[in-house]
Amino acid sequence: MRTQSFLVLVVFFYVTSTFVFHANSAIAPAPNDHKKASPARLGGGGGLGGYKPIEDVKDPHIQDVGKFAVSEYNKQAKTNLRFSNVIKGQMQTVAGINYRLVIAAKKGGATNNYLGEVYERPWEGFMNLTSFRALLRG
Ligand SMILES: *[C@@H]1O[C@H](CO)[C@@H](O)[C@H](O)[C@H]1NC(C)=O
Repeated sequence: MRTQSFLVLVVFFYVTSTFVFHANSAIAPAPNDHKKASPARLGGGGGLGGYKPIEDVKDPHIQDVGKFAVSEYNKQAKTNLRFSNVIKGQMQTVAGINYRLVIAAKKGGATNNYLGEVYERPWEGFMNLTSFRALLRG
């Protein structure tokens, strides 16, 4: 396995999420965000804690993760939502990255918001939709 590039990614996401920690309180961070997690899960590479807000939600990769969530949901639920955009989100670096994204998608003529959770191992090009549900309009 390409451990080195994985560690580079981990450091990259850790640094970016650290910079934005105070910048975006749209989704409240988990209470233990300030703690370092146990290093055991990353094989001694230094642990990373809970979910952090995503600073640059317009990042094409974040939008791609949202698009993937809608397309997987369409396959699983045999429905036909059309992805609009990711509105905001959080991410967590574990052995891979968990995303929690608020996604706008169209059903018929109406745009609704959905909460999609995607697990990614970027160094393998692997993504899996772990949860997807409609949010109540507010
Ligand atoms: C994808 O996520 C679902 C839901 O968590 C899980 O049941 C399934 O095993 C996962 N698939 C893979 C290939 O990891």
